[in-house]
Amino acid sequence: MRGIVLAGGHGTRLHPLTLSVSKQLLPVNDKPLIYYPLSVLMLAGIRDITVISTPTDLPQLRRLLGNGAHLGLNIDYVSQSHPGGLAEAFILASDQIGDGPVALVLGDNVFHGHNFYEILQSHARDDIDGCVLFGYPVEDPHRYGVGETDDEGRLVSLEEKPANPRSNRAIVGLYFYDNDVVDIAKNLRPSPRGELEITDVNLEYVRRGKARLVDLGRGFAWLDAGTPSSLLAAGQYVQVLEERQGVRIACVEEVALRMGFIDSETCYRLGARQSSSAYGAYVRTIAQELADTPVSAR
Ligand code: G1P
Repeated sequence: MRGIVLAGGHGTRLHPLTLSVSKQLLPVNDKPLIYYPLSVLMLAGIRDITVISTPTDLPQLRRLLGNGAHLGLNIDYVSQSHPGGLAEAFILASDQIGDGPVALVLGDNVFHGHNFYEILQSHARDDIDGCVLFGYPVEDPHRYGVGETDDEGRLVSLEEKPANPRSNRAIVGLYFYDNDVVDIAKNLRPSPRGELEITDVNLEYVRRGKARLVDLGRGFAWLDAGTPSSLLAAGQYVQVLEERQGVRIACVEEVALRMGFIDSETCYRLGARQSSSAYGAYVRTIAQELADTPVSAR
């Protein structure tokens, strides 16, 4: 399965923070925002990853992530010159997707929760038929795509930023699709705001009876970092957990090591390259701690 990190847009809700820096490179506590969605794809076992961003921001993202080989990944880059909507990702990356399934994660979404690895492993399947969406209860559903299920838990409606939401269940920025998504995206018409909407893609799967909604539930954290206050809230959340537990969330070097994408020597070297920071020290410690642990037990 290929993964796409959609890191486009101009981050206008974050101006002036994003006047000269990509939103996805802003800090969420101790690491750039894009590490969080990238680590989600990695935890799903995905190693072939396409990063989509604006022509201006791509060089900076490339400087951070390179071709991904240091993390045991294969990362390539595709430019989105105009904000054509989230669903345009499948058209822009259609060569990379080929005839396989695809996972899309939004570059400003932060996920954290117990069992997330298991959830990802069970839904990121190469034999996926249709699409898998994830729902999460929020206080302000009118800011998101909103899903409604029937008594049997079947997804029956989806609305993008409804004025009067039918439920409090937001559709989070992580989606798994079979290969039909490319044709569905190519046949979409732009919405009134001139964009190819991800909700319209998902509605087509609902119409075909092939959309599943998995609830992430209240014991989970899904945060987006698209506004100054949500960016700060995400950073505070991460800081509280990291300082309390002594672990780091979305440390991509650690994820690569635990997933068996890299060995402990490589991981140690990546930590040594960031030698003056506490983050680098953490990467080195993890590399040493897991040196003799088989991948299955990491
Ligand atoms: C997008 C999607 C929306 C989804 C949200 C998740 O909204 O259109 O359906 O709930 O991401 O972050 P945007 O952030 O582009 O306003």
